Amino acid sequence: MLWDNSNSQMAAEKSSRFDFDFLANKYDSWYKSAKGRMYDRLEKKAIIRYLPTSAKGKKLLEVGCGTGHWSRFFSQYGFEVTGVDVSERMINIAENKNIPNASFTVGDGHCLPFEDGIFDVTAAITTLEFVCDAEGVLREMVRCTHKPGGQLLVGVLNAQARLNRNRKQRPKSPYAKARLFSPSQLKQLLELYGRVRMVITGFVPNQTVLLPLTPLFDAIGRFLHIPCGAFIAAEVRL
Ligand SMILES: C[S@@+](CC[C@H](N)C(=O)[O-])C[C@H]1O[C@@H](n2cnc3c(N)ncnc32)[C@H](O)[C@@H]1O
Repeated sequence: MLWDNSNSQMAAEKSSRFDFDFLANKYDSWYKSAKGRMYDRLEKKAIIRYLPTSAKGKKLLEVGCGTGHWSRFFSQYGFEVTGVDVSERMINIAENKNIPNASFTVGDGHCLPFEDGIFDVTAAITTLEFVCDAEGVLREMVRCTHKPGGQLLVGVLNAQARLNRNRKQRPKSPYAKARLFSPSQLKQLLELYGRVRMVITGFVPNQTVLLPLTPLFDAIGRFLHIPCGAFIAAEVRL
């Protein structure tokens, strides 16, 4: 879908709580930082447990794909990926990565430009926090997912995690206006569509010197079902 810049900017303002056009160029630097890499590894490990053993021939729609960081992961896993994001600059960066078996489109999660039921998996990773109407975006994701048997896959920043509460208090940060979800709030949103499976992860120590111990911290956090890990991964089979 081709939009001119002014249309794209208007759409981003109306449908997103934060205009990621302004962050696009430095967005991926988080994933390259020592801490960012740790979170990323744990988040992927959590999401992977809900992915089918084989993704061969399966189509995955990623809503709020941003710079294509997760799109690359889904493509490497074997999916045919379609990424959609309201930020034209984020989409430009994703496109320039030339990710195999992935295509990208500027579009709004509130009215996805796809037909009913054409995707096997529909994913939104740290996107629902930033859309204006998370319930509406989920409805659209469900509409585009194959039924029965398709999957809804969601990753969000946990409202109960200290890291995210601190982020939200920084007035100029993208998180300031974000709608963060606690595990029970996310469950409530998703259980409209079926049985929710969920894991809380992202127990990364704050001190850099302790970062190598992250797998241990995370294993303990998950084992004890501590509800305040930084990331929640959830799945619903439709
Ligand atoms: C925190 S970023 C996450 C990007 C990517 N999923 C990742 O984890 O690296 C949130 C993304 O959601 C996008 N977004 C916000 N509102 C949207 C909407 N209504 N429709 C589509 N994308 C939206 C933003 O432009 C941004 O790229």
